[in-house]
Amino acid sequence: MSIAKPIPQHVAIIMDGNGRWAEQRGKERSEGHVAGVASIRASIRAAQRNGVRYVTFYAFSTENWGRPAAEVEALMELLCYSVINETPDLQRQGVRVRVIGERARFSEKVQGFLNRIEADTAAGETLTMVLALNYSSRDELRRAVQRLAREAAAGTLRPDEITEARIAAALDTADMPDPDLVIRTSGEQRLSNFLLWQSAYAEFYFPEVLWPDFTEEEFDRALEVYARRDRRFGRLK
Ligand code: FPP
Repeated sequence: MSIAKPIPQHVAIIMDGNGRWAEQRGKERSEGHVAGVASIRASIRAAQRNGVRYVTFYAFSTENWGRPAAEVEALMELLCYSVINETPDLQRQGVRVRVIGERARFSEKVQGFLNRIEADTAAGETLTMVLALNYSSRDELRRAVQRLAREAAAGTLRPDEITEARIAAALDTADMPDPDLVIRTSGEQRLSNFLLWQSAYAEFYFPEVLWPDFTEEEFDRALEVYARRDRRFGRLK
């Protein structure tokens, strides 16, 4: 009798190490980000092959605005270029793209591209690719709390109606399952303000490889590590 290997429904990825990858090769940091797009593509392919339903990528944090203007500008260009370039393949693969984070801070042009890729891939049913952009968990919680406070002030929400489910529903990830597995590449072992609420019971995996070196095989390896973990959700087995 073979026992089915547990597959995470949702994998969330902190793509770290692009800058170091570029520096090791004497290239501009932004070239590391360009190389990183191939790893996003590889992860989507591996996720689909394994039956993972959601993959979230931490592509731009609220703190990333503090990077040199040229790097921020290069990331915005890459984002717009990738949206145009990748949309046909994503549509063919049945991938739906969703954006989390506060997009109002992006230029009109970038917002237009984000709205467009969400609309153009809305029919995708095999996998949801979530892009966390101008995202941080505390900022997401701040926005959620403001929303609930506004309802309370308007008299449409009683304080005792604020349940965990109600809070979860006020987050950007409202109708998505929580991540089962969080991966951060480059050997750093931090969450850096990423999906704090949602990762309450997630497994964590910190491979040493830099993000541009994260291949389909690396994704498969992460799933193998996950399959060997013993998830108990606070209970005894
Ligand atoms: C972290 O590496 C990576 C980022 C801040 C950006 C990730 C973005 C992409 C891979 C591509 C752009 C996104 C899309 C959706 C097209 P780092 O620069 O912090 O690396 P370091 O720690 O080595 O300096």
